[in-house]
Amino acid sequence: MGRPHLPLISPLLFAALLLFAASWKAVALPLSTSSRWIVDEEGRRVKLACVNWVAHLEGVVAEGLSKQPLDSISQKVGEMGFNCVRLTWPLFLATNDSLAALTVRQSFRGLGLLESISGFQSNNPSLVDLPLIEAYQAVVKSLGDNNIMVILDNHISKPGWCCSSFDGNGFFGDQYFNPDLWVKGLAKMATLFNGVPNVVGMSLRNELRGARQSKADWYRYMERGAEAVHAANPDVLVVMSGLSYDKDLSFIRDRPVNLSFTGKVVFEIHWYGFSDSRAWVDGNPNQVCGAVVGNIMRMSGFLLDSGWPLFMSEFGVDQRGTNANDNRYFSCFMGLAAELDLDWALWTLVGSYYLREGVVGMNEYYGALNWDWCEARNSSFLQRVSAIQSPFRGPGVSDRRTHKIIFHPLTGLCVVRKNLLDPLTLGPCTDSEAWYYSTTNKGLTIKGTYFCLQAQELGKPARLGIICGDPNSRWDPISDSKMHLSAQTGNGSSVCLDVDIATNTLVTNECKCLSRDKGCDPASQWFKLVDSTRSRPFSGRQGIRVV
Ligand SMILES: *[C@@H]1O[C@H](CO)[C@@H](O)[C@H](O)[C@H]1NC(C)=O
Ligand SMILES: *[C@@H]1O[C@H](CO)[C@@H](O)[C@H](O)[C@H]1NC(C)=O
Ligand SMILES: *[C@@H]1O[C@H](CO)[C@@H](O)[C@H](O)[C@H]1NC(C)=O
Ligand SMILES: *[C@@H]1O[C@H](CO)[C@@H](O)[C@H](O)[C@H]1NC(C)=O
Repeated sequence: MGRPHLPLISPLLFAALLLFAASWKAVALPLSTSSRWIVDEEGRRVKLACVNWVAHLEGVVAEGLSKQPLDSISQKVGEMGFNCVRLTWPLFLATNDSLAALTVRQSFRGLGLLESISGFQSNNPSLVDLPLIEAYQAVVKSLGDNNIMVILDNHISKPGWCCSSFDGNGFFGDQYFNPDLWVKGLAKMATLFNGVPNVVGMSLRNELRGARQSKADWYRYMERGAEAVHAANPDVLVVMSGLSYDKDLSFIRDRPVNLSFTGKVVFEIHWYGFSDSRAWVDGNPNQVCGAVVGNIMRMSGFLLDSGWPLFMSEFGVDQRGTNANDNRYFSCFMGLAAELDLDWALWTLVGSYYLREGVVGMNEYYGALNWDWCEARNSSFLQRVSAIQSPFRGPGVSDRRTHKIIFHPLTGLCVVRKNLLDPLTLGPCTDSEAWYYSTTNKGLTIKGTYFCLQAQELGKPARLGIICGDPNSRWDPISDSKMHLSAQTGNGSSVCLDVDIATNTLVTNECKCLSRDKGCDPASQWFKLVDSTRSRPFSGRQGIRVV
């Protein structure tokens, strides 16, 4: 409504992002896989740092286009540091020609969304009278024009909000989930986007679930779906999701997928705070993080070591910061995502929906953009996520030998030092020192120097020293989360590495929440020693160039 264009985020961060954008490394498409890594034509790792953009609800139109011009949304995706979009679609868009032929205007009119029509008309006049399938293609094209890769995600069959175990869309054989029709629809979409270079992958089906699910049918149909996609479009990555809402791929351990092609398969999983109900607030965060991560490694994380890429294609939090369950989960998530250096897709880009679950204009508190799709909903959240947008390691990331960086999941920052004798602080992970962690004497040394991290006194800064090997420089990963780094001060008391938020300095404090305490939050003391081969300073942001 004639509102001036506000800057997306603070001018300073914006300038930093532009700098990043300028140093984006071009990716040579198409993509393929090399053991657990997704790589480009030249064999260099491409880390998928995606955001989910919803186009599978009743209107079957990518959300937000009544609020902002398509190109400005696509541009914002890149400005926020994402290099890719997981763009959802309902099966019936591909299999029901009369649905695909409805225009955006007709689809909205049928739902009584008159305000969306007028917003759409003013923001995207050239799209409002396009058939739904062409409007979908236009979104893919606009993302390509902005150097954003796309994963087409078959999210559901019958357009509408997903997912419940009783919605008839959960598993092969359910009311709206005819396997033959599904294979046909996948082949059709794969064909439609054959030759569209920024479409780098297709997700076969979101969150399989419900009473009908069985492993036998998973292999039977997922292998068929994968073959159909590959036959129609051999360029795309084929993304295979697990059972039980995309949480369970454990069965692959016993029986690998049997496909006629190699180098294209990626597995996907989902992990939210609510995936474990209210466990995060009902339990001790160290214990919950330890238990949940252990479970994820058994259910899907093991695939990385078996040589398969694992795509965390949905995760996210209420970005108002008011959901304690989400907040506790998210520090644990960030630790694991950094440690495994996963490919991922944030839920969601959407600031608000045309119509979701009967509510017109529903605000999406998990959305990266705000209600009017104009600005970032929470720029400090995005800043935190930016820590995992660039790869830490993998083929071609840099030629540096593997070292550790000390990552702080709560802030998305890393331990850095300015000058030798200055206190250590938190700063961008791209400026991180290369640390070496000795499993024998538990020392944390800056590579190529004699300097090691030392605890001094309770409540005082942790510093670099050259007398290493004493208990004050032996750092043990303790607690069930294994994310506390504990050492002893000169007088023998145990302390944990912590951050003094006011001064941003690294200090040692009494270790928090080691026991069964449910009320306390240890996240300021959570650190991850993450393997990295980055050089310093590192600018590894990856984008594509579509000519
Ligand atoms: C196809 O889509 C049209 C338009 O939305 C709808 O009226 C019709 O019921 C759909 N057909 C099937 C078989 O789902
Ligand atoms: C894999 O699939 C091929 C072709 O369908 C079949 O001939 C072969 O027996 C299968 N292998 C296994 C181990 O199931
Ligand atoms: C952004 O998230 C942080 C951390 O959760 C929270 O403290 C803050 O209030 C949020 N800001 C907005 C504008 O919602
Ligand atoms: C060590 O000193 C701290 C104060 O700096 C004190 O609180 C603590 O009790 C002392 N620990 C031991 C084991 O003497």
